[in-house]
Amino acid sequence: MSNIKFHLKTFGCQMNVYDSSRIVDLLQLHNMQQVDDELDADVIILNTCYIREKASAKIFSELGRIYKLYLRFKKAQPVFAVIGCVAKAEGENIFKRAPFVSIVLSSQKYHLLPELITQALENIESVNSSEKKSKKVEHKINTDLSGLEKFDCLPKVKKSEKVAFVQIQEGCDNFCTYCVVPNTRGREVSRNEKDILSEIENLQNLGAIEVNLLGQNVDCYNGLDENGKPSNLAGIISKVAKFDNVKRIRYTTSYPSKFSDDMIELHRNEKKLMPLVYLPIQSGSNEILKKMNRKYTREQYLFIVEKLKNANPDIQISSDFIVGFPNETEEDFQQTLDIVKKVQFIQCYAFKYSPRPNTPAQKMDGQIDNKIKSERLKRLQYELRKSQDKFNKSCVGRVMSVLFTDVSKTNPEYIIGKNEYLQPVIVKAYKSLLGSIQNVKITSGSYANLKGEIA
Ligand code: SAH
Ligand code: SF4
Ligand code: F3S
Repeated sequence: MSNIKFHLKTFGCQMNVYDSSRIVDLLQLHNMQQVDDELDADVIILNTCYIREKASAKIFSELGRIYKLYLRFKKAQPVFAVIGCVAKAEGENIFKRAPFVSIVLSSQKYHLLPELITQALENIESVNSSEKKSKKVEHKINTDLSGLEKFDCLPKVKKSEKVAFVQIQEGCDNFCTYCVVPNTRGREVSRNEKDILSEIENLQNLGAIEVNLLGQNVDCYNGLDENGKPSNLAGIISKVAKFDNVKRIRYTTSYPSKFSDDMIELHRNEKKLMPLVYLPIQSGSNEILKKMNRKYTREQYLFIVEKLKNANPDIQISSDFIVGFPNETEEDFQQTLDIVKKVQFIQCYAFKYSPRPNTPAQKMDGQIDNKIKSERLKRLQYELRKSQDKFNKSCVGRVMSVLFTDVSKTNPEYIIGKNEYLQPVIVKAYKSLLGSIQNVKITSGSYANLKGEIA
């Protein structure tokens, strides 16, 4: 079949963003065309996130909204596919709540999409043309977690942005007591170096100059090297750094107690490795960290930060926080505020704890009232904002390196890029600089962004 139009919407983390980009490659190979307008599609695909309740509730409201949109405009009903983490977690339940959905696939089974879409389109045609509207949509589901199988079925990437993402690892074995990822993404498994490096070589040939290595726990990367021996994160980054066209390397996400001395050395010596370390701490209280099954203490965390900053004084830290975890007292929360003051993070995400199905924390006594969670979140965000603001202001007068990727939406004379620390930098400059890395002298800094001029 040809001329099939699909609309793909992505929720959740960078892993899902990566998966979605591969889905586009795969479907285009099968002569399907991506469309921006959701009303113009034969197939609607939602790549979903289950991390917090709000994220997963959003999927069902989106499904309902788009379904009703087609009814309102009296258009033929499209094929709906729900893939990713909600698909794994909710499974058959999705068909119960949204019977018009045809396809449900885990994030490790999306390579089955072309075949299932073709079947579902034939089925939906007969449903749409059925006189009595009594014909039901056929349901196809595969939520197995089969590790790296999908990578063998994906085509070579044909187009790359300047900033490219490469998944080096699937799943997570950490079993933090609040988290659904070990259930939705399965066991931790690393891709082999050869596969990752050939993907990156291809991306650099297609123009990528910044590479982001992705995994839920990249410090535990242990794929095989060319001699069949387990490699590690520092090992693979050193090899990526050898690609001439790759100028910047980032990796995410790190797990504090697994952060190795090899990585600290690499941050000392490898100039292509960006000096921003995303090291989620979640809480500053040792009691709460223990209940979360995070296998480090605040002291160990502070020690890693100290070692990193000693190795390379340019290093800055970003992080994730959860407030209102079961049994979190005001004293525990004070410990979190204290760590923010000590580390002076430059960019963070803070979340209210959200109890998730089939996680140990959901069953713990001592769940915290939502009002207290909201109030703590506000206080934490205030403190985080202060340190981000302080850092941004301290950048004024410095020359930073910026990879320009976009034209300003509000003022087309300005272009926007990201500096070493992923902060947006706005500069009045020619569009011909888009796609290049330039030295920029920072002239002003606010909480949200930096402004500067080409140095
Ligand atoms: N693997 C990464 C991040 C995974 S999810 C890590 O371990 O840090 C991204 C962030 O979502 C987490 O860092 C955590 O802060 C947040 N998160 C995960 N589960 C949550 C829950 N049940 N409630 C609130 N926030 C949660
Ligand atoms: Fe979830 Fe913990 Fe794994 Fe991160 S390390 S994905 S928070 S279980
Ligand atoms: Fe969400 Fe799944 Fe990522 S639950 S955060 S999309 S791994």
